[in-house]
Amino acid sequence: MRLPRHAPRTAALLAAATFALASFAQVLPQHSKSTSLGVVTCASSLCHGAVSPWKDSDILQNEYVTWSRVDKHATRAYAVLSSERSRAIAKNLGMKEPPDRARLCLDCHAFDPPPALRGARFKLEDGVSCEACHGPAGDWIERHAAAGATHADNVAHGLYPLDDPVAQAKLCLSCHFGDSERFVTHRMMGAGHPRMSFELDTFAATQPAHYVIDADWHRRKGEWDPVRVWAIGQALAAERILDVLLDPRRSRDGLFPELVVFDCNACHHPMSDARWTPRLGTSPGHIRLNDANLLMLRAIVRRVMDGDAAEGFVHRSLALRRAVSGDGGDAGEALRAMREELDGVVRAISAHRFTPSDLRAMLASLVEEGLAGGYHDYAGAEQATMAIASLLDYLARHGLLRDVRAANGALDRLYAAVKDDERYRPERFRDALGALRTEVLR
Ligand code: HEC
Ligand code: HEC
Ligand code: HEC
Ligand code: HEC
Repeated sequence: MRLPRHAPRTAALLAAATFALASFAQVLPQHSKSTSLGVVTCASSLCHGAVSPWKDSDILQNEYVTWSRVDKHATRAYAVLSSERSRAIAKNLGMKEPPDRARLCLDCHAFDPPPALRGARFKLEDGVSCEACHGPAGDWIERHAAAGATHADNVAHGLYPLDDPVAQAKLCLSCHFGDSERFVTHRMMGAGHPRMSFELDTFAATQPAHYVIDADWHRRKGEWDPVRVWAIGQALAAERILDVLLDPRRSRDGLFPELVVFDCNACHHPMSDARWTPRLGTSPGHIRLNDANLLMLRAIVRRVMDGDAAEGFVHRSLALRRAVSGDGGDAGEALRAMREELDGVVRAISAHRFTPSDLRAMLASLVEEGLAGGYHDYAGAEQATMAIASLLDYLARHGLLRDVRAANGALDRLYAAVKDDERYRPERFRDALGALRTEVLR
């Protein structure tokens, strides 16, 4: 499994402004009651289908071209369902329909609204279409292009508020991890579906973005702090994982719990390659929860919550890992307590203005955690790499790194160490972190 490379990003500001949590009540595009009109409706050259960006426009207007040529949501997501691999997955699962006609697959690999809500030009073949992310356009298409249209008015008529990081994270994670309706189970992975990995800020950059967050974006839509986006992405991903274990429909498969929320390599490695260390916090021979997101959140809460609350969170996240592994405490209680606490963590992150000293402190704490052996499991190392890349990127763009070339070199070594989950060696990752500390944090 390949980790997306950190792509160059558009200019981002650590601007300060108030932030509203209006989106908590937003419905995802898949639940909208509006009609979907199809990509062709967005794609005229006077709208979003220009060949190159327009000079005098607030938006690029070539969004369609970017999406249709380089974005995998258009070029691969649906087409891949006709591949040999997808047919093998369907066969292994005993599916009756071919994958490009089965809801199970279409729910994530295309936009799949109920037939009654498909307009005349709607096409399933469009894959993960504009409307899969921006919401069905039936009720806002005309007004959003009229003179004087505002973003707030569009949102009031059903445009999904992707400018709100919580709403954006919810949407991306609903396909890139799953939610109560669409979900890639361990059974599906056993049948051949790839492992899923996601980090909001990194994936938003590598999509690649068909928008530029600049001064006029801020004027129209408010502030955008990529560090906050990363942090919110971590909290929401942790929530989704706990939701699986708390959902009676999804938490059990025969005698066993749903296995995708556990560290894959806890089970998938040769017996001769003994991996247990006391540092893991669970006793030998136990399966570990994939709590990579909680590991990242430990570095985050120390900056966004007061001392006691942050230490309480750290304590409860470690207790949760032990309880889920059967190393003490009631797992159900620990899960429910952490799930409740995470909503408060999202609110604290949303209200926090990240300063350069927060970034440096979080970077240092991620590195120290790793040097102490905290990224023994691959998933933790993978999330830490994406986080460190994001933090270094912001520090570099704000002129806060002494030696950008040395930082890039150190980052390349980290990427090399997590390139292949099956060949992951914790010692190699630790060495790469040590070099990064010497070159960047000293
Ligand atoms: C919960 C959403 C979800 C469901 C359900 C789902 N997938 Fe996927 N699938 C994804 C995502 C997201 C990726 C991309 C993973 C990545 O690259 O990080 C993916 C990747 C894949 C790939 C590899 C893609 C490539 O470009 O090589 C194949 C093949 C695939 N899925 C087939 C299927 C089939 C067949 C089904 C139905 C049996 C299915 N998927 C159901 C979300 C889903
Ligand atoms: C995978 C999800 C996704 C898909 C698919 C997608 N977008 Fe976007 N789009 C985003 C995100 C995220 C943003 C940034 C948030 C914002 O500006 O509201 C955005 C922003 C935009 C903007 C606003 C830029 C600005 O400066 O305000 C336009 C216009 C846009 N997209 C058009 C399109 C069109 C047209 C398509 C289809 C050809 C499309 N998008 C497909 C996620 C998506
Ligand atoms: C409707 C489901 C859906 C939504 C919503 C969605 N994605 Fe995806 N995304 C997919 C699928 C399916 C793929 C796999 C495409 C393939 O490779 O076949 C994918 C692939 C990607 C890739 C390429 C990954 C790789 O391995 O190269 C990136 C980056 C990405 N998505 C980012 C995002 C972001 C950011 C958002 C939210 C703004 C988002 N996606 C929302 C379904 C979705
Ligand atoms: C609790 C142990 C456990 C965990 C955790 C686990 N798996 Fe598995 N996995 C298994 C078992 C058991 C099988 C069935 C092996 C067989 O059929 O020989 C399996 C089968 C598979 C297969 C098919 C391999 C084959 O030989 O057919 C894949 C792929 C897979 N798992 C991926 C994953 C991924 C990805 C994760 C993490 C998200 C994961 N597994 C987590 C135990 C686990």
